[in-house]
Amino acid sequence: MNIILLGPPGAGKGTQARILEEARGMTQLSTGDMLREARTSGTTMGDKVAAIMDAGGLVTDEIVIGLIEEKLTGDQNGGFIFDGFPRTLAQADVLGDLLKRQGQTLDAVVQMQVDDEALVARIVARSTCAHCGEVYNDLTKPIPDDGKCSNCGGTEFKRRADDNEESLRTRLMEYYKKTSPLIGYYYAKGDLKAVDGMGDVADVGQQITKALDS
Ligand code: AP5
Repeated sequence: MNIILLGPPGAGKGTQARILEEARGMTQLSTGDMLREARTSGTTMGDKVAAIMDAGGLVTDEIVIGLIEEKLTGDQNGGFIFDGFPRTLAQADVLGDLLKRQGQTLDAVVQMQVDDEALVARIVARSTCAHCGEVYNDLTKPIPDDGKCSNCGGTEFKRRADDNEESLRTRLMEYYKKTSPLIGYYYAKGDLKAVDGMGDVADVGQQITKALDS
């Protein structure tokens, strides 16, 4: 099964992707994670990517599509969870073509609906384990009292450079201008399944399971 998690920054895409990986043996493909890796490459391209991401803009379709193309080669029995991709209509068209060429299908697009105020609150409270990427939140899932990651025991945690109110405003604007048209695009294709992303992590997970199994 191949699915897209579609939603604004802070909707909980990464959190739910990790749960789905565990539960269904799927593979998360996060273009955000790939770009965060690319930005540390020390190349001119890496520096450009870093500047765009920190400001909250979208990296060019060409770069992002190139990264996804590399990952889509080879067999993947459990299927892919596309997290943060596609983000533009051009990226959506290319993904459709790539899957078709490999004889694969896109099985569902899960639209995670979260109020804008909740997105801001979630983002400014987020941190991740520097070792395994486990996502924490000062309010809803604090780092354990012993200072060790509950997933891997790591003791280093980091906050993203773009997790501040100013960058988030730009990221939200980009989402509404360039990514939200994908809701209509996938609705028209009959792939869209909307879930209420305002509940707690377990509740949203249950809704996604229900949507995927229906
Ligand atoms: P990316 O890394 O994809 O970031 P994003 O889409 O802005 O999404 P986030 O990772 O911020 O949020 P999320 O929905 O995964 O939420 P999470 O689960 O962490 O992209 C970063 C940048 O890279 C972009 O701005 C762009 O520059 C570039 N980029 C990436 N892909 C691109 C593309 N395709 N094209 C062009 N450019 C691209 O949860 C957030 C917080 O909330 C956490 O603290 C979590 O613990 C908490 N939380 C989660 N669920 C709940 C819940 N149900 N209730 C309460 N708290 C919750």
